[in-house]
Amino acid sequence: MEEIKVFCPGTIANVSCGFDVLGLALDAVGDEMTVRKTSEKGIRIVKIRGQELPLQTEKNVAGVAGLALLTASNYEGGFEIEIDKRIKPGSGIGSSAASSAGAVWAMNELLGKPFSQLELVQFAMQGEKLASEVAHADNVAPAIYGGFTLVRSYQPLDIVPIPTPDDLYATVIHPQIEIKTSDSRKILRTTISMEQGIQQWGNLGGLIAGLFRSDYELIGRSLEDHIVEPIRSILIPGFDAVKANALKAGALGGGISGSGPSIFALSKGRETAEYVAQSIQETYKTVGIPFDIHISKINAQGVKQIS
Ligand code: HSE
Repeated sequence: MEEIKVFCPGTIANVSCGFDVLGLALDAVGDEMTVRKTSEKGIRIVKIRGQELPLQTEKNVAGVAGLALLTASNYEGGFEIEIDKRIKPGSGIGSSAASSAGAVWAMNELLGKPFSQLELVQFAMQGEKLASEVAHADNVAPAIYGGFTLVRSYQPLDIVPIPTPDDLYATVIHPQIEIKTSDSRKILRTTISMEQGIQQWGNLGGLIAGLFRSDYELIGRSLEDHIVEPIRSILIPGFDAVKANALKAGALGGGISGSGPSIFALSKGRETAEYVAQSIQETYKTVGIPFDIHISKINAQGVKQIS
């Protein structure tokens, strides 16, 4: 195979109580990317549609992630990349992760899959480092593995895929303002109290157990974050009203998607997820900021070939 076109899913990182360790992949939101082999060494980003992003390899997250893979491989040639960018940078839905994960996944396919999923996550994390100054894996891991993933440890990197209940849907509202992950990390405190720790690991354990048992009620009551959300939500106009009305409309729970400004809610069943979307839409119309809404099943596959 000389060329491949892939769908690179959007992702929700943190999922409330799992700051920097939990993430899920979306089905209804994502970029498309074409990667082809070239005899010329190195990586060239030849076209980006949809967003103004750097074409220079070292300044582009797909380029940097791809270079990490290329350096680790014994392939003598190079790659050309075309990106159809549908996820806006600074949206909180894993825009940089989609590009980084998509690039390395596609290259691995073209080379006959010499690398494991874990290695692909490690390469893609270099893209995240460029985008947000921190090589976090909670977007790129679900983008590559699909479904929910837990980063059990960063050193050494240990990714645990978590099963997804069949009837779980995400509703995501993306207010059209940009919040850079690097900025929204700087406002966080670097220490937490024992009391906060106890709440957070109780909820994270509860959420993981709920996902394993398809216990939707347990999932709902575990979607709580008393550490990051109270600080970051200040940057998101209408956050409290959106969350409260999503719950009233029947969502199991919700929170900030990644580092924001997107807000997510999880629901049991598409019908409820659509009802939640309607309610959020009504709520956000009063805020006066344009927005997009997505309703998505959890994407079990992660990056996938489309042609
Ligand atoms: N865990 C990261 C953060 C995800 O919240 O900063 C960024 O998408």
